[in-house]
Amino acid sequence: MNILVIGSGAREHAIAKALDKTADVYTYMGRKNPGLARISKIYKVGDESDFDSIISFAKENDIEIAFIGPEAPLEKAIVDELEKVGIKSVGPKQEAAQIETNKAFMRKLFEDYNIDGSIKYGTFYSLEEAYEFIDEFGEPVVVKPIGLTGGKGVKIVGDQLADNQEAKEYVKEIFDQKMGGFEGVVIEELLIGEEYTIQAFVDGKTIVPMPAAQDHPHAFEGNKGPITGGMGSYSDKNHLLPFLSQEEYDLSVDIMKQTIDAIAKEATEYKGILYGQFMLTKAGPKLIEYNARFGDPESMNVLSVFDYDLAEISKQIVEGTLEKAIFKNKASVCKYVVPDKYPNTKAADTIVEVDEEKIEQLDAEVYYAAVYEDDNQEVHLTSSRAIAVLAVRDSIKEAEIACEEAIKYIKGEVYHRSDVATEELLNDKIEHMKEVKS
Ligand code: GLY
Repeated sequence: MNILVIGSGAREHAIAKALDKTADVYTYMGRKNPGLARISKIYKVGDESDFDSIISFAKENDIEIAFIGPEAPLEKAIVDELEKVGIKSVGPKQEAAQIETNKAFMRKLFEDYNIDGSIKYGTFYSLEEAYEFIDEFGEPVVVKPIGLTGGKGVKIVGDQLADNQEAKEYVKEIFDQKMGGFEGVVIEELLIGEEYTIQAFVDGKTIVPMPAAQDHPHAFEGNKGPITGGMGSYSDKNHLLPFLSQEEYDLSVDIMKQTIDAIAKEATEYKGILYGQFMLTKAGPKLIEYNARFGDPESMNVLSVFDYDLAEISKQIVEGTLEKAIFKNKASVCKYVVPDKYPNTKAADTIVEVDEEKIEQLDAEVYYAAVYEDDNQEVHLTSSRAIAVLAVRDSIKEAEIACEEAIKYIKGEVYHRSDVATEELLNDKIEHMKEVKS
């Protein structure tokens, strides 16, 4: 089967690697990712928002299914456009993708369909009404632009915002800049607990969940510093997390199932990958937000323990015949190597050296992210996350140690968070959850 992967990051590298086991992979990417280029039967470097170019490439190569990596093309209706020329996609149509691309849509869906895991919120298109809500709310709030902001638009009182006064100032900034493409804002109650991710394959009706994972969004050790795209993540051999029980996992999956049923009624069937970001609170799992695609880095955790045929699953997603997936009972740890000063890097452009052979000998994996390869096959940093290193072992502890060992073989003007998935950090999370529930 000829499958087209769209995207150029580590998430797409992981998707392509899994598909490559049973399908011919073709890739359309914004810059030359060396990992993706090597896997691809044919690849094209081009503008990921140029759908005419993507469709020509797909037709030239007899593509049967497209696998959409990032959210931006979903928002612009890539799936709808591909369908017009007879190519089905692993990814939702524009209307269903609103579950990620329009936070007002998502919260209203939860309210209208009485979906579990709902929270207190308000959506505002008037600055005065937003201010009034914050004043009357009287508790710390979370401020979210309605549209896509590359994961960098959400600000939380007690984290990036000192108090509700600063929250109001940020609301004004969102309105003034039309941040995320809307002159509007979603304001939510602040949830206390531990965040986690559950990703699922979805064929419109059936959802097949994957192991839970936990990302580390803060840039610096000890969960300090600015929020990033994610500095590293882990998953456990029982497919739960050290602070997440089977019952809590099942409740979260049920929230995702209720969401899929509601989207089908409200918009159109949702097909693709659904990424649920949850907060485990004293009152159980609450939905923070959805992504309409695999997570980055969490895709690498689940795909590294995936023990089934991703091309077959893709076929089942588009045909609506999804049944099951199999994941190994192994733990995984993934850590991102990022340019110095990330996330405030301009464009680094310096060379990063990756000793892939040595990393492979250590039984670890490398996924290339926001880097590019030049004509001399040298890999350059850009301004974003550069390279993910991942290890799979029988325990999180062993995987974390293996990951650290392998990461030594990446050299350049880079850093990583050495505390990601360490025993100390995980114990803090377990204790935190005990406190929250007491
Ligand atoms: N790990 C965060 C995301 O994929 O958006």
